[in-house]
Amino acid sequence: MAGSASYHGTAKSSAIRVGVLGLGQGRSHLRAFQLLDGATVAAVCDRDERLAERVAHEFGVKTRFPTYEAMLDDPAIDLIVVATPDHLHGRHAIMALEAGKHVLSEIPMATTLAECNRIIELTDRHGLKYHMGNQVRYAFCLREVERMIRTGDLGEIFYGEGEYLHTMDDIVKDRPPDHWRIHPRTPQTTLLGGGPHAIDTLRWLMGVNFIEAQAYHAQQQSRWQTTHTTVALFKAGNGAAAKVTVSYGMVRPYCLYYAVYGSQGSFERTRDQGGAIDDTVNYHYHDRIAGARRMAPVTVPNWSNPAIQRRHSLGHGTMEIEQAQHFLKAIIADEEPAIGPREAARSIAAGICALQSAQQGGGAVAIPDFS
Ligand SMILES: NC(=O)c1ccc[n+]([C@@H]2O[C@H](COP(=O)([O-])OP(=O)(O)OC[C@H]3O[C@@H](n4cnc5c(N)ncnc54)[C@H](O)[C@@H]3O)[C@@H](O)[C@H]2O)c1
Repeated sequence: MAGSASYHGTAKSSAIRVGVLGLGQGRSHLRAFQLLDGATVAAVCDRDERLAERVAHEFGVKTRFPTYEAMLDDPAIDLIVVATPDHLHGRHAIMALEAGKHVLSEIPMATTLAECNRIIELTDRHGLKYHMGNQVRYAFCLREVERMIRTGDLGEIFYGEGEYLHTMDDIVKDRPPDHWRIHPRTPQTTLLGGGPHAIDTLRWLMGVNFIEAQAYHAQQQSRWQTTHTTVALFKAGNGAAAKVTVSYGMVRPYCLYYAVYGSQGSFERTRDQGGAIDDTVNYHYHDRIAGARRMAPVTVPNWSNPAIQRRHSLGHGTMEIEQAQHFLKAIIADEEPAIGPREAARSIAAGICALQSAQQGGGAVAIPDFS
């Protein structure tokens, strides 16, 4: 699948019927599923009816539901994409699972531990599939790095860094002043907003679970009086340490930075990364070249798989396409998705516990175990 020139899955006759809830980022998932033979986007739903009408027309989706409940009532829908604001994901995923639908949820899985536990319970009880859409695990630039770490090329991993950096101004500049991301009642949090891209991807690269968190917020706030920068430290179950920084306040281009250090080698991303279909530079060092004065630069495609990009690229390159393909395959083969409910909960609980630490001014908070 991922990485191969052909990304088409199963025959359209047995297509899984997808309903997309929330039509901002939801449009990327809609398009990704439309590109796959194994899926049909059967319906869309957004509480903004004019947006739903426009999207349905633009993408040729036949059915528009006025409410989420109505979409869940339709027995013809097999899979719900949850792409509503962060604080609604838990509730919307739970509603879908209770209605017997598989779920591909945007990050974060949920914003409370109770919701994470309920999602795990429902998938277990009903045999349904759930995948949290941290599509960065499908970034082309990390594919070979992850394989190297997994096969032991860097030796025993003892430290890692993850960063999700950008400015909120870029995201909300064309939005109404009461947009959920900057609304005083529902502001996008650092560690559960973009944070899962940093936390979940770093945890995956390092191959660890986090068991304890400590964090601090920068006390300077955004012009919307929201917290914009948080730094978290994590203790991993194998004794390794990790640092995650999430900021919407930095006056710099968008950046997803990772670094992983092992007993035999080191990996660092550049922080000057370019866009979805640009090339990027990863830096490597290995005890085989010990004594060299510089890390070895390796130029690779950033977010997009070149084999797919020639034909299709969405806002995030090809990451959502490969993620959707992976999830379809997991449903069809009855396999655990890569970021299934327990795996998702490990990352989201780390974010929830780190936020708790930052809100109380620091101090260690134990992260629950989801094994
Ligand atoms: N994975 C990524 O890289 C990535 C990128 C962008 C956004 N996101 C995530 O996607 C989610 C949506 O973000 P966005 O930028 O698309 O926001 P958005 O505000 O553009 O879109 C959210 C949509 O949900 C609709 N909505 C809200 N409540 C609803 C309800 N109860 N029923 C039906 N529709 C409802 C809104 O009308 C809106 O159109 C967020 O969780 C965000 O963090 C992820």
